[in-house]
Amino acid sequence: MNFADSEVVAAILGEAGYGLCTEPSEADFVLINTCAIRDNAEQRVRHRVRELRALQARRPQLRVGILGCMAERLQSRLMAEEDNLSFVCGPDAYRRLPALLHQVREGMKSAEVELSTTETYADIEPVRMDSNGITAYISIMRGCQNYCSYCVVPYTRGRERSRDPQTIVNEARTLFGKGYREVTLLGQNVNSYQWSVASGQCPVGFPELMERVAEIDPRLRVRFATSHPKDLSDRLLEVMARHGNICRCIHLPVQSGSNRMLQLMNRKYTVEWYLDRVEAIRRYLPDCSITTDVIAGFSGETLEDHQATLDLFRRVRYDYAFMFKYSEREGTYASRHLPDDIADEEKTRRLNEIIALQGQIALENNRKEVGREYEVLVEGESHRSKERLFGRNSQNKVLVFDRVPSTGGAAAEPGTYRRVRVADCTAATLLGELSD
Ligand code: 5AD
Ligand code: SF4
Repeated sequence: MNFADSEVVAAILGEAGYGLCTEPSEADFVLINTCAIRDNAEQRVRHRVRELRALQARRPQLRVGILGCMAERLQSRLMAEEDNLSFVCGPDAYRRLPALLHQVREGMKSAEVELSTTETYADIEPVRMDSNGITAYISIMRGCQNYCSYCVVPYTRGRERSRDPQTIVNEARTLFGKGYREVTLLGQNVNSYQWSVASGQCPVGFPELMERVAEIDPRLRVRFATSHPKDLSDRLLEVMARHGNICRCIHLPVQSGSNRMLQLMNRKYTVEWYLDRVEAIRRYLPDCSITTDVIAGFSGETLEDHQATLDLFRRVRYDYAFMFKYSEREGTYASRHLPDDIADEEKTRRLNEIIALQGQIALENNRKEVGREYEVLVEGESHRSKERLFGRNSQNKVLVFDRVPSTGGAAAEPGTYRRVRVADCTAATLLGELSD
């Protein structure tokens, strides 16, 4: 989401006459887009800000500012704490950046942190940064009001609001015309996307939006993130099943395998509900991969609760998981009412147990892939060798393969689809060979 937001910021500042550069040592402004979701994310940002002091000493015109969730959370307090910062700008205030930078150039310090109930940057065509020209993100909604008890996002990103579907479809179509072959539709909870048009017309929900984007061209792959399990509907799965270019991969954050924890987390579903959704996915889309987020050591988590999470991982057998230690965030319901009472070493121990189990499951899942053949969207050179390329299958698994098939035949080119047979694997990657 921050990556997509930075592309919106680049567009807004581009319009105002600013250009991007690649090295901080050439810049007049360094803008750091930030995440506030866990304390370690914030500490990394503070470290970066402090590192820039040396450069600022050599380059006095250089001004440093913070964008995004940390700006929203800490506001001008952040400038008081990090005195080499000149400005902070929250996620709904990016249109004010040109004016803000003007003030900063005049020597003022400034904070723009007002949240909005309507801002979606719908009319702004993002400037693609670090792009491979093949895959891109499209933000379809902003904000979140689920108020999971541990989470700071509703406070830093404000109320949920959906973007005009026509502007989303147009953006995807323009990208396809430029040669892009995959778009990922982004929102904190895409399943609650809702656009109400004039009375008499049908409102557009997420399944309808997906369908419209998928129908642009069968060669355009469509992905999405993130789904909240409470809102994952059969209707969406039906639409996915009907369109081969909607990718067979669903990110379904579970957070915990214990009903007691899920209730304290205010997730609004039970383990039974979650497993029913997993079953529905497997019914409609037998070849769909499922990935998740999980938190270890939330308030009051007992060893039984933790075991329940491990059990759930064994049952679902995720293809990938983002795994975190609970980090208490100021202002959340949990910080006000639920003690952060699991010792850090114990959180680490539980986290490592989940990581080890998930690593084993991912490897076992990948071993079953050996011998299968997939259509892969070729993305670029593998990190290790120029002779090898990498791409992803519909399930979002990375496949690495030789540029030229061993049987002769045409070399693969980034931005095209090729068939690849899996020959070997690690827990993270499938190793294959071109088979078409
Ligand atoms: N501590 C740890 N992890 C968190 N997440 C959100 N808030 C916290 C927190 N306070 C995780 C959740 C979410 C992912 C984006 O970050 O797992 O799905
Ligand atoms: Fe945070 Fe919950 Fe919203 Fe996700 S759904 S952003 S975890 S409040």
